[in-house]
Amino acid sequence: STPALDLTEDILRLKKERNAVILAHNYQTGDIQDLADYVGDSLGLAYQAQATDADVIVFCGVHFMAETAKIVNPGKTVILPDRDAGCSLEESCPADQLEAFLKANAEKNYYVIAYINCSGGVKALCDVICTSGNAVKIVDQAPADRPILFVPDQNLGAWVMEQTGRKMDLWQGSCYVHMEFTRDSINKIKDEYPDAVVVAHPECPTAVRLLADEVCSTEKMIPYCQNTPAKNIIIVTESGMLHRLEKECPDKNFIAGPTDKCACNDCHFMKMNTLEKLHACLENLSPEVQMPEDLRKAAEAPLLRMLEQSK
Ligand code: 13P
Ligand code: SF4
Repeated sequence: STPALDLTEDILRLKKERNAVILAHNYQTGDIQDLADYVGDSLGLAYQAQATDADVIVFCGVHFMAETAKIVNPGKTVILPDRDAGCSLEESCPADQLEAFLKANAEKNYYVIAYINCSGGVKALCDVICTSGNAVKIVDQAPADRPILFVPDQNLGAWVMEQTGRKMDLWQGSCYVHMEFTRDSINKIKDEYPDAVVVAHPECPTAVRLLADEVCSTEKMIPYCQNTPAKNIIIVTESGMLHRLEKECPDKNFIAGPTDKCACNDCHFMKMNTLEKLHACLENLSPEVQMPEDLRKAAEAPLLRMLEQSK
């Protein structure tokens, strides 16, 4: 419609005026993806944030992603459409609880690996960060003589243990979106499309992951889907992914993985961002991510180690 078109035009005008770059996660709505300068997974977005020479980073994703951009590129103004766009994985591991756990288990001398879906406070307590796109690579490079504590996602952790053969102690966190997929809900859609391949995010519970032909990060789903000979592809992750996939693989038929209740699944945090809020944040340069410098520095070290180890 016309008002939406005007909003898009005005976002692009403000973007120029502010010398801003718009980074969007694969789970954002199609309208936001379509006007972003870069759309990708957490890992790609972290590299983009680190490398940009824009003055302002507009981060369309969830808060920990915008915070990561600020940690790796502190000289930039980092804004996000909605400050309250959180993440259930981040919530499942508060920094004070992790700190207490590490204190209580100090004799173990854990090498702590944190999935990037966590707060700056948690990152500051860790040795290295990983994303779903590089978790196997990062765990492979962990010191062989130390036990690993993997936080906060137990499902990603379980998958990485299988992939690497490395035992880890797992924090019992999970993503509420991926936990909604069940063996039943995925088996049902497989029965409807017997020739389809199943692609699942590693945040899915093990029983669902075992039904998948491929388990990978959102960005890695794109080359997999481009290269598979299958025409029908069931995508077991957040629904925003289908917009990106349909754009990149126009000759394939994508089917959203259903839950027991719904035909597909949204992350309500990701979906808090709208064109209206994106426009307002560019206009007001707010909400802005700000961090105490000592915390930022402490969280930067494990992130830089990740970016280095994941090259
Ligand atoms: P990716 O890094 O694979 O994009 O995943 C991020 C995320 O939040 C998954 O729920
Ligand atoms: Fe967090 Fe899950 Fe939403 Fe990703 S999909 S941002 S892990 S709640």
